Amino acid sequence: MTAHLASPTGAPFFHYQAGQLQAEGVSLAELGQELGTPLYVYSRGALAAALASYQEACVGHNVLVCFGMKANSNLAVLKEFARLGSGFDIVSGGELARVLAAGADPAKVVFSGVGKQAWEMQAALKVGVKCFNVESLPEITRLSEVAVALGKIASVSLRVNPDVDAKTHPYISTGLKENKFGIAIEEAPHAYTLAASLPGLSVVGVDCHIGSQITEVSPYLDALDKLLKLIDQLKTAGITLKHLDLGGGLGIRYDDETPLAPKVLLDKVFAQLQARGYGHLQLVLEPGRSLVGNAGVLLTTVQYLKHTEARNFAIVDAAMNDLMRPALYEAWHGVLPVAPRATESTLYDVVGPVCESADWLARARQLALAEGDLLAIESAGAYGFVMAGNYNSRPRPAEIMVDGDQFHVIRQRETFADLIRGESCLPD
Ligand code: LLP
Repeated sequence: MTAHLASPTGAPFFHYQAGQLQAEGVSLAELGQELGTPLYVYSRGALAAALASYQEACVGHNVLVCFGMKANSNLAVLKEFARLGSGFDIVSGGELARVLAAGADPAKVVFSGVGKQAWEMQAALKVGVKCFNVESLPEITRLSEVAVALGKIASVSLRVNPDVDAKTHPYISTGLKENKFGIAIEEAPHAYTLAASLPGLSVVGVDCHIGSQITEVSPYLDALDKLLKLIDQLKTAGITLKHLDLGGGLGIRYDDETPLAPKVLLDKVFAQLQARGYGHLQLVLEPGRSLVGNAGVLLTTVQYLKHTEARNFAIVDAAMNDLMRPALYEAWHGVLPVAPRATESTLYDVVGPVCESADWLARARQLALAEGDLLAIESAGAYGFVMAGNYNSRPRPAEIMVDGDQFHVIRQRETFADLIRGESCLPD
């Protein structure tokens, strides 16, 4: 059996050794026994390799990689990326608090998001984030007012919506006209003129994010072309920019996708910037999934095997509340037995205990299973734990970081006390 749980660089951080699945030098079976399941397990080496694949592709160019931390916001993950030189793309006051707690440099933080509130703007202005990616005319006005009241100048980049098809799942496509994100590219010159006229703002950049899990170069190059035409137009109007932010979006391999290596995309982007006379612009990137997705698995234990007339179910102890992607997007995640059996395999739906038919993790997988077996749900490092909830009063899983032959608990499993913290009953 070949585990395709490798980082986009192909380094084998999750692999079988002597018939047992390991994360780096740590046995997943031992982790499951010691810490219980469901359990998120990340590989420190895989995180570093994924970031390095961007950094190596950017050598000799002025690039700031800002990890789209919505994909995985555990403090240990953030701290590791900060240590390795990454900046961060945040979308809320909560994410700002997390990056600060992780010791990140605010000058490497860009603040995205369509609904920033005044208190979030204030907090970001006070610590001095690199820039606000602003998404609407009323947000431009509000940000200027908030900055003026604080005696600050907010650096802004307008997130424009280039109306390109990212050719991905409609729920994770964000750069089309009908999406709520960004300012329509035709309206952008007007929005820039407004921003440039306001006392609390300094216009520094242009930004777009066209979608997620993108596996083709052309949507990026189409968006870049439109952005460069806009920058030309702005130049004639006397507005010059310092950076261009192409967003995140690079896909990973879940099943049989062929993801784009950052270098393949970036070589083309740098060539286009150079050819159009914008080689001096700083390039900002906001990758999320491609930095963490294949650096993590969700470990789960088979509770029951249930054979019905229509289907065979492997009922496991992880559920849609722990990993929402299959229920929400019908997303495909690989399922690997931690200790594969030599016995005959059966077609199983891998489902959780939550009272919803949408509570499935994988469908129609050929597996040889027995009760008590451990399974690793692959590619769970991005949009896994961060989207977990407590439906059916299920405590969220613990998170573990493996580092060589060591592991660290980077988030404890929630307890019943955590679940009811903050709740109170009516007086008698
Ligand atoms: N920057 C902005 C402004 C974004 O909205 C996003 C993701 C990113 C960067 C990072 O994009 P990435 O490199 O991860 O594709 N929950 C969905 C994905 C939603 C992505 C939303 N925006 C999923 O599980 O597939």
